[in-house]
Amino acid sequence: MMRDVAEILLTREEIRARVQDIGYQISRDFQEKDLLLVGILKGSMIFLADLLRVIQIPVLIDFMSISSYGAATASSGVVRILKDLEEPIEGRNVVVVEDIVDTGLTLSYLMRNLQSRQPKSLRICALLDKPARRIVDVDIAYKGFSIEDRFVVGYGLDFAEHYRHLPYICVLKDEVIKGGNHS
Ligand code: PRP
Repeated sequence: MMRDVAEILLTREEIRARVQDIGYQISRDFQEKDLLLVGILKGSMIFLADLLRVIQIPVLIDFMSISSYGAATASSGVVRILKDLEEPIEGRNVVVVEDIVDTGLTLSYLMRNLQSRQPKSLRICALLDKPARRIVDVDIAYKGFSIEDRFVVGYGLDFAEHYRHLPYICVLKDEVIKGGNHS
C-alpha cells in the first residue's frame, strides 16, 4: 500500500467485480441499440476504460470536459464546458459515465444541457455515490457503490491532480491532506 494511504475502501477486485456487473447490465439494456458512452473528464477515465471492455454490444465513446465556476457559484451548479462532444446526440442512446456523484450539481446541470440536445435516451452511470452530500436529486441508473462522506482518491479520482493512478479507492492520511504534501 502506498505510504500516503490511510485506508483502502474498495479493492481492485471489488471494483473489477462491480464494473463487470454494470457492464453486463448495460449490455442487456442496450441490446440492438446504438449506445454512446460519454465520459466526463478526467475522473471517469479509468472507470470508462474498464467498463468499455466488459460491454458485450457495439458501443461508441465520446468525452466532455467541464469546469465549475468555483466556490462562489457552486450552489448554482453552473459549469463551463471546456471540451464538448464531437458529434450530435440527437436520437441516440447516451449513458453519461462519471466517477462520483457528490452534491449532484455538476450532473444535474450537465443532464439538462444534454437533454436539450434531444437524445433518444439519457442515463447516468456513476462508480461512486455519496448520498450524504446530495443537494440536487439525480437519478443514477447504473451505480457502482454508495460510500460514506469521506474524501476518496484512486481509480481516476484525485487530490490536487495526484493519486488518480492508484488501482483502488482509498482515503489518504490526514497529514497528506493538511500538508498538501502528496507523492
Ligand atoms: C468531480 C466528479 C464530478 C463532480 C461531482 O469532478 O467527476 O464531475 O466532481 O461533484 P458534484 O456532484 O458535487 O457536482 P472534479 O471536479 O473533481 O474533476 P475531475 O473529474 O477532473 O477530477
